[in-house]
Amino acid sequence: MRFPAPGRLAAATAVALAAFLAPALPATATTAATVAAPDIPLANVKAHLTQLQSIATANGGNRAHGRTGYKASVDYVKAKLDAAGFTTTLQQFTSGGSTGYNLLADWPGGDPNQVLMSGAHLDSVTAGPGINDNGSGSAAVLETALAVSRTGYQPTKHLRFAWWGAEELGLVGSKYYVNNLASSERSKLTGYLNFDMIASPNPGYFVYDDDPTIEKTFKDYFATLSIPTEIETEGDGRSDHAPFKSAGVPVGGLFSGADYIKTSAQAQKWGGTTGQAFDRCYHASCDTSANINDTALDRNSDAIAYAVWTLSGGGTTPPDGGNQYENTTDVAVPDAGAAVTSAVTVSGRTGNAPAALQVGVDIKHTWRGDLVIDLVAPDGTAYRLKNSSSSDSADNVLATYTVNASSEAANGSWKLRVQDTAAQDTGYIDSWKLTF
Ligand code: TRP
Ligand code: ZN
Ligand code: CA
Repeated sequence: MRFPAPGRLAAATAVALAAFLAPALPATATTAATVAAPDIPLANVKAHLTQLQSIATANGGNRAHGRTGYKASVDYVKAKLDAAGFTTTLQQFTSGGSTGYNLLADWPGGDPNQVLMSGAHLDSVTAGPGINDNGSGSAAVLETALAVSRTGYQPTKHLRFAWWGAEELGLVGSKYYVNNLASSERSKLTGYLNFDMIASPNPGYFVYDDDPTIEKTFKDYFATLSIPTEIETEGDGRSDHAPFKSAGVPVGGLFSGADYIKTSAQAQKWGGTTGQAFDRCYHASCDTSANINDTALDRNSDAIAYAVWTLSGGGTTPPDGGNQYENTTDVAVPDAGAAVTSAVTVSGRTGNAPAALQVGVDIKHTWRGDLVIDLVAPDGTAYRLKNSSSSDSADNVLATYTVNASSEAANGSWKLRVQDTAAQDTGYIDSWKLTF
């Protein structure tokens, strides 16, 4: 039995409220074979969509090729990239008597002979603002590029990002780029990842059936979230990966559906509405910022980052000390309740985990003595990191534990398991990571 210190109840309420207000989206484990890919903040991606909507609204309701809303969209994306340290290039072309623009952004460094490209078309149709088609892909690729800068990621490969013009007129911008790329430059491209419509309001989770390595990378990501995927079938060659594929570049991408109808089998596995288009506002004036499914946008944005990090190979974000596998999604720990877990996936390692596995734990709590914490290995073996202690009234657990995990296979899903064993004070898992 213990007695609350003065002010304890108020503090507990504040933390409970904070945990309640934390994003309630599904956990998005952020792991990679080498340097862990970051979680892409949904709020940042949505902020870009808000800006693209405002640009359309201020420019006659669209962001179409040859219209002022298109160039304003290019200027918005370019300014963000320039401020983040990218080397940006505007490539001009002419289509239908109007000037069009592709925006290219190179991240300095990496092997110039191995280039991984990711892109999205930035133009809308004239009928509307084009927020799902394709503000969604444009914003997610932009935020992934900004995450490269924020984390100081230095991958083995060179990274290039692209925003295409005049896709809606027949892939005009991406065709122009590929046709004007010297064959010596084209052969340096190890892959092109395309993102066109990734937040459809009645979403599906479609992966392009193309380069097997790229396809597997996306499928692996969704598998860690236990989200079923299907092969994209709404028309191969209907977006900007097509010219790259024709030129022999390995391609892949994600898609949440356009005007095809969701079947009952699809609604069963993904939720949403049977018998309704994935995007009822496809190429219509109602493709506004209201035409976005946040969950699909969040998952697909994180999948893009996962693929960019995984396919760019190796790299160094942490100066040294090993690879990090981190989950930064908040998990509320119920007061005197059931244990909760947060997972990270380790892949691409060989053999067992180390004898000195570092487990970094960041838990916010108003009476940490309430907490029992275990690390659970992929085979279910639990390693006690911390016992409860009724006398330990300090706030928070911010600690790195060392675990002898040498009898555990390194690869698989590792979990941090946290249980609050006593009433009144509460908290949440802020983040945790494995380093080895
Ligand atoms: N903007 C694309 C188009 O109208 C949307 C699209 C339809 C799409 N089918 C696709 C994008 C398949 C990627 C894959 O052509
Ligand atoms: Zn499109
Ligand atoms: Ca408690």
